[in-house]
Amino acid sequence: MNKDNNPTLHFPDSFLWGGAVAANQIEGAYNEDGKGLSTQDVSPKGIMGPITEYPTEENLKLVGIDFYHRYKEDVKLFAEMGFKVFRTSIAWSRIFPNGDDLVPNEKGLQFYDELFDECHKYGIEPLVTLSHYETPLHLSKQYNGWVNRRLVEFYTRYVTVVFNRYKDKVKYWLTFNEINSILEAPFMSGGIYTPKEQLTKQDLYQAVHHELVASAAAVKLCHEIIPDAKIGCMMLALPTYPLTPNPNDVIATMHYEHKNYFFGDVHVRGVYPGYMKRYFREHGITIEIEPGDEEMLLNTVDFISFSYYMSNCETTDPSVVSGPGNIFGGVPNPHLEASEWGWQIDPQGLRYVLNMLYDRYQKPLFIVENGLGAVDELIVNDAGEKTVEDDYRIQYLNDHLVQVVEAIEDGVDVMGYTSWGCIDLVSASSAQLKKRYGYIYVDRNDDGSGTLERYRKKSFHWYKQVIATNGKSLRVK
Ligand code: BG6
Repeated sequence: MNKDNNPTLHFPDSFLWGGAVAANQIEGAYNEDGKGLSTQDVSPKGIMGPITEYPTEENLKLVGIDFYHRYKEDVKLFAEMGFKVFRTSIAWSRIFPNGDDLVPNEKGLQFYDELFDECHKYGIEPLVTLSHYETPLHLSKQYNGWVNRRLVEFYTRYVTVVFNRYKDKVKYWLTFNEINSILEAPFMSGGIYTPKEQLTKQDLYQAVHHELVASAAAVKLCHEIIPDAKIGCMMLALPTYPLTPNPNDVIATMHYEHKNYFFGDVHVRGVYPGYMKRYFREHGITIEIEPGDEEMLLNTVDFISFSYYMSNCETTDPSVVSGPGNIFGGVPNPHLEASEWGWQIDPQGLRYVLNMLYDRYQKPLFIVENGLGAVDELIVNDAGEKTVEDDYRIQYLNDHLVQVVEAIEDGVDVMGYTSWGCIDLVSASSAQLKKRYGYIYVDRNDDGSGTLERYRKKSFHWYKQVIATNGKSLRVK
C-alpha cells in the first residue's frame, strides 16, 4: 500500500526534527583564533587510519566545509528546511587549546556564542555534543588520553566552562559521542596514543572507567548549572542478530551486545553490571576505582541518544568471515543489501533497537545520527539549478523514519531525530568527502578542489516536507 500524506503516521507534536554534524568534520579553521590541535588534525585517513606527526594538507578536515566562516549561510538553509534542532559539537581544543590549560580561549567561546545565537534567531534548539572524536592532541600525547585519570579533571573543567557560558542558549547536551566506540577506535574516541595493537585490556577499560566517571560528572554539573536542561549519553547502536539459531551463535550475540549495553547500563543504572564484572575477572582486569567514583556514577542521564546506520550478525562459525563495513566486528547478514561502503541497510533494525533500548531502560530516546553515505552527482535540472537527484537517500531515510513511527506505536518514547551529515561533510571512518550524507551538497572534493558553494539536493525539499507535515508525507510500503 503506497500512501501520501498518511494520516496514520503519528509523530508527537513535540518531536524534534533536525540534522547532526560534528565540529571536526565541518568547521575547518583548525588553527584559527587560538584553537589548539586535536587528534583529528593529525588523522588524515580517518578513524582507523594512521596518524601523522603534524597536520598535513591531505587531511580534508583542516578545511572541512569551512563552516567556521560560512555557518550563517548554513544555519539559514537548516531553517529553510524547518529544523527544530541542530546537533553539533564543541571542539574542546577551541576552548582549551592544550586541554590542560587553566584559562579558556575567549575567541573559541565567542564562536559558539555566535553560532548558538544564529540558531536561536530561527527558533532552532542547539543539541551539543561535548566531545565528538577530538581530544586535544596535547592530552593524547602527554597523558595518553583517557587512560590517565587526570583527563577527568580536564574534561570537568572544560564542561563547567561551557555549561556556565551557554546556560541560557543550550538546553540539550550529550557527554561523549559514541562512547562505546573507544573499544574499537581508542585513539579517535579516547585520545589514547598507544597503538591499538599494543593497548592492554587493563588500560582500555581503565580509560572507559574514567570516561564513565567524567560523563557522570558532566551530568551532575549540568543539572546543577542548568537545571532546566536535559543531558544524555550517546552510543553507537549496532543491533546484532545471531547468524543462525545455533545456541552458540545466540550466546555469542549476547556477549557482543553486552559489550555495548555496558555503556548504557552504567549511564542509566549508575552501577557496573554483573556480566562486566565477570568479564573483568576472567580477563585479569582490575579497575582502579577511586573513593567517590561509585557515588558519582549514580548521576544518571535524562535520556539516551544513539547513532544507527546498520545492524550486523554474530556467529561462532570460524568459516564465516567479516565483510567490508563491519569495522566494529560481526559478520554480514545474508538477507540485507549494503551501501557502497559496505554498511548493511536495515530499517527494521532501527525499530528493533528503539524497542530494545526502551524495554531495557524506560528512558526517552533520541536518534541523533542516521543516514546514507553515498556518491552524489551534481547536475543541472530543467529549471537551470544545480542539484542532486538523490532518490536513494530519500528512500533510505523514508524507510527508517517509517520504522521510527512503528516504534512510537509500540510505545517507545522517541524525543527526536537528527539525521547525520545534514550538510555534506568529511567522513569520520574514511576521511572522504565523496561519502556524502547531506540534504545540502557542498562543492568540495577528495583532492581538495571545489568552490565550497552549497546546493540544495532533492532530499532537501523532501525533508522540508516531512518536517512540515510532522512525518505525514512519509510513504509506507
Ligand atoms: C558516526 C560518527 O560513527 O558515524 C560520525 O559519530 C560519523 O562522526 C558517522 O561521521 C558516519 O560515519 P562515516 O564514516 O561515514 O563518516
